[in-house]
Amino acid sequence: MADTDGTTEAKEFHTDIPQTSEAFFLKGSNSLDWGMKNRLGRIFNPESGRTVMLAIDHGYFMGSTTGLERIDVNILPLEPYADTLMLTRGILRSIVPARTQKSIVLRVTGGTSILKELSNESLAVDIEDAVRLNVSAMAVQVFVGGEYERETITNMTRMVDMGTRYGIPTMAVTAVGKDMVRDAKYFRLATRICAELGSHYIKTYYVPKDFETVTAACPVPIVIAGGKKQPVPDALNMAYRAVQEGAAGVDMGRNIFQDDAPIAMIQAVRAVVHEDLAPDKAFEMYNDLAGQTA
Ligand code: R5P
Repeated sequence: MADTDGTTEAKEFHTDIPQTSEAFFLKGSNSLDWGMKNRLGRIFNPESGRTVMLAIDHGYFMGSTTGLERIDVNILPLEPYADTLMLTRGILRSIVPARTQKSIVLRVTGGTSILKELSNESLAVDIEDAVRLNVSAMAVQVFVGGEYERETITNMTRMVDMGTRYGIPTMAVTAVGKDMVRDAKYFRLATRICAELGSHYIKTYYVPKDFETVTAACPVPIVIAGGKKQPVPDALNMAYRAVQEGAAGVDMGRNIFQDDAPIAMIQAVRAVVHEDLAPDKAFEMYNDLAGQTA
């Protein structure tokens, strides 16, 4: 029988303590619904406010590119060191163990290959499948200034609308056409358009000049892609400068999985992103860890 008499008398109601209301830690995200915030809080570490996303979605238009030939063999050992895996549903279902506790950012656009015009993408996943896969965010490629600019922006706004129904954030990925200038002016334009139209956070590229104006003018968090493989000190320096200049982390692929010591590299990147470790110290850390596994 329920104990209805004793419980209320015995409770301490703390009538002198006002209920607190905690502000959400991520830039521009305080007005989002609980599910959105909870998912973003699985991508971004609430302590550092940053994330190390491991990007392994390249196969959706590049096929089995260098380093991603065998995701089960080469990439799964990196999973413990990532905050988030960014990938396609094909790789998620076929290779990633469902026991993973890592947040998933699902690539939801596609339809093109490196053999053709890359900006001609469509939405390639139903929102119901994103729900079914329990993803923490969806990634949509946006080609501002590209041949299919309007279509890709509309892909993004449609995903934002659908994701909002289910509490799933949308990450816009600002893709740059081959012949376009990659500078702060362009990335201010591209990231701001994505944020104004509802993206919850944005992946863009780091530029050495005026990157802080890109992050300052964007009202939601920015993470940087790593881009082509660079020497380790350069990649660590880029990650360091990006977070010092306002990025909320990295969505890095090739500079990790194409490295000779990818487990050492992802740990060094983590230290830069989450602990503000200076790049020279992070390189020492990388060398130590790489030496241990050699
Ligand atoms: C490429 O199209 C994908 O969106 C990648 O997720 C993105 O470029 C990040 O990977 P990487 O660090 O290799 O540039």
